[in-house]
Amino acid sequence: MKKEELKTIILNKKLPTHIAIILDGNGRWAKKRLMPRTFGHQKGAKTLQEIIRISSSLGIKYLTVFAFSTENWSRPLEEVNFIMKEVKNLCKDYQKLINRNIKFKMIGSKEELAPDVRESIETMENKTANCDGMTFLLAFNYGAKQEIVNATKKICEQVKNNNLTINEIDETIFEKNLYTKDIPPVDLLIRTSGEMRISNFLLWQIAYAEIIFTKVYWPDFHEKEFYEAIYEYLDVIEDLADWRKVNETKNNNRSSDVYNLCTIIRIRRLVFNCSNNVPCLFRHIWIDKYVSN
Ligand code: IPE
Ligand code: IPE
Ligand code: MG
Repeated sequence: MKKEELKTIILNKKLPTHIAIILDGNGRWAKKRLMPRTFGHQKGAKTLQEIIRISSSLGIKYLTVFAFSTENWSRPLEEVNFIMKEVKNLCKDYQKLINRNIKFKMIGSKEELAPDVRESIETMENKTANCDGMTFLLAFNYGAKQEIVNATKKICEQVKNNNLTINEIDETIFEKNLYTKDIPPVDLLIRTSGEMRISNFLLWQIAYAEIIFTKVYWPDFHEKEFYEAIYEYLDVIEDLADWRKVNETKNNNRSSDVYNLCTIIRIRRLVFNCSNNVPCLFRHIWIDKYVSN
């Protein structure tokens, strides 16, 4: 399908409120071109600008992008410094975000960041604080396990100071102590580069997210690839809604034929859609299982 066609289709449907992206493959993209990894990061930063612009023009409310993990400090110093420089460049351009009414927020720990990096991030946060269009969250020096441990410590502190009782602790209280306080959960998570793992990203917030993996390296993830991911997401959501509707009328449980049929359709579509993308060995096994049922 053409880019414009995809765009028209997705704009006529209920778009995901919160899209999160694990941008991956910058290094391999550069290596394929016999260039240093930093070249991939430079290209990747351009792609990020493009995806922010497209998300806001589509009307997406929240976009969260994983750009540097707590584990990424172990990379060569030159590469880490280059990524820091790219983030400073991104933040210098805060006027671009203001023009699009985009609010910026960093999620992750600011403590370990060099003062100049931290300052440019905070400047962009402050300058865009009154924007109320899309919110762009940059996961930087971010780790989900660290976020959960920090939330636990904050809650313990409140209990210790008698501002909270143990019985009052629930999911809502927990969420209020995460970096993503007041941000709705992720609807769609995309990971580029063919890796099929979460790498310590938003573990709490993706509890019910649909996850789409694409083999495309991040610097090659453009408008069409983004629309394709959203299109696939909308398709899966529609299948689920259909299944629920049929299931409700039949007053059946999850072991019904309808459920098996919908599952086959979903898995089949994933196999077809991924055929030139991700090798779907396990998905084929699942199809055999359901067909033989
Ligand atoms: C993603 O690309 C960018 C960051 C993690 C900062 P990578 O740098 O991980 O690229 P690959 O995965 O090595 O190709
Ligand atoms: C995930 O990418 C982290 C970011 C995108 C910032 P990595 O390339 O660092 O993840 P692993 O090491 O392959 O899991
Ligand atoms: Mg990587």
